[in-house]
Amino acid sequence: MKLSSFIHFATFGVKTILFRKREAILGTIIVTDKCNLSCKHCSVNNITAIVHPYEQVKDEMKQLYDMGVRILFFCGGETFLWQNKGKTIRDLVIEAKEMGFLIVNVVTNGTYPIDLPEADLILLSLDGDREHHNIIRGETYDRIFDNIARATSDNICFYMAVNQINKDCIEHVCRTARDTKNVRAVSFNFHTPYPDTRELALSKEEKQACCDTIKRMMKEGAPIFNLKSALPYLVNNNFPTPCYQCVVMENGKLNVCGRCIDVPGLCDECGYFFVAEYTLLFRGNLKIVFEMLGTYLKYI
Ligand SMILES: C[S@@+](CC[C@H](N)C(=O)[O-])C[C@H]1O[C@@H](n2cnc3c(N)ncnc32)[C@H](O)[C@@H]1O
Ligand code: SF4
Ligand code: SF4
Repeated sequence: MKLSSFIHFATFGVKTILFRKREAILGTIIVTDKCNLSCKHCSVNNITAIVHPYEQVKDEMKQLYDMGVRILFFCGGETFLWQNKGKTIRDLVIEAKEMGFLIVNVVTNGTYPIDLPEADLILLSLDGDREHHNIIRGETYDRIFDNIARATSDNICFYMAVNQINKDCIEHVCRTARDTKNVRAVSFNFHTPYPDTRELALSKEEKQACCDTIKRMMKEGAPIFNLKSALPYLVNNNFPTPCYQCVVMENGKLNVCGRCIDVPGLCDECGYFFVAEYTLLFRGNLKIVFEMLGTYLKYI
């Protein structure tokens, strides 16, 4: 991370903590909800299957930038399906950087060739070993690893949503992140139980067991892009929600925190690690502040 970016984030953090401000720093744009997969745990694919036009996405980027957002995620649906007016997701990343966003990340299922060197991180969803990943995501595991091997940059971070199907695969995914060329780290979430996928939710005891594994792997030196101090809050679901420093833009609609904010009761069962990490950070939790500094400087 550049020193100037670090200073910007540090200043934002201090102001937010001291003055309890609610301004956003992290924004996500859903470029399309169209997807080539229909994963067992996912409730957000192909609801409209609209690929949002280039001008609209550009306007959304501008709007987020003007609000003060400096960490931008492109998400979907499948982001690599986004194409419009001869532009691709790579063009959006380049333009976001030119606009002044300090960190630009893309979330993808990894089933398309990966040529995105300008992104700070490519969060590539990997949901277990071959067997369990394929149960959740269809027969995609081998194609994904082929794409990772041929990727033009080493900015890939695995992104695993832990649920009833793959809860015993955490160690395997950590080791795979450590041993795979072009992969920098792995970042976890717990399944967030939308009404149509409640059966995949983990109990408190199961979350505790998963966190014990994550902590053990951290101790072993596995590259895990999460904060140890946030894990107890994720087990107990006692972190503050929603995250006011995060916003999501989908088809012109701006939501605080996630597109899931309208699902009644879901925030009480939120499994997104970034929500725990960011809300605790901006409440001034000192352990989180120092861990966040170390983790971000290591992986971005
Ligand atoms: C919705 S997908 C969009 C990007 C891309 N299609 C992909 O799969 O990475 C973004 C991430 O959300 C995760 N996800 C989907 N539904 C979830 C849920 N209910 N709880 C937690 N994570 C979920 C996916 O596994 C994926 O890592
Ligand atoms: S690839 Fe991503 S958007 Fe598509 S179904 Fe799976 S999790 Fe959902
Ligand atoms: S806190 Fe609520 S809105 Fe935010 S990601 Fe979690 S469930 Fe979604």
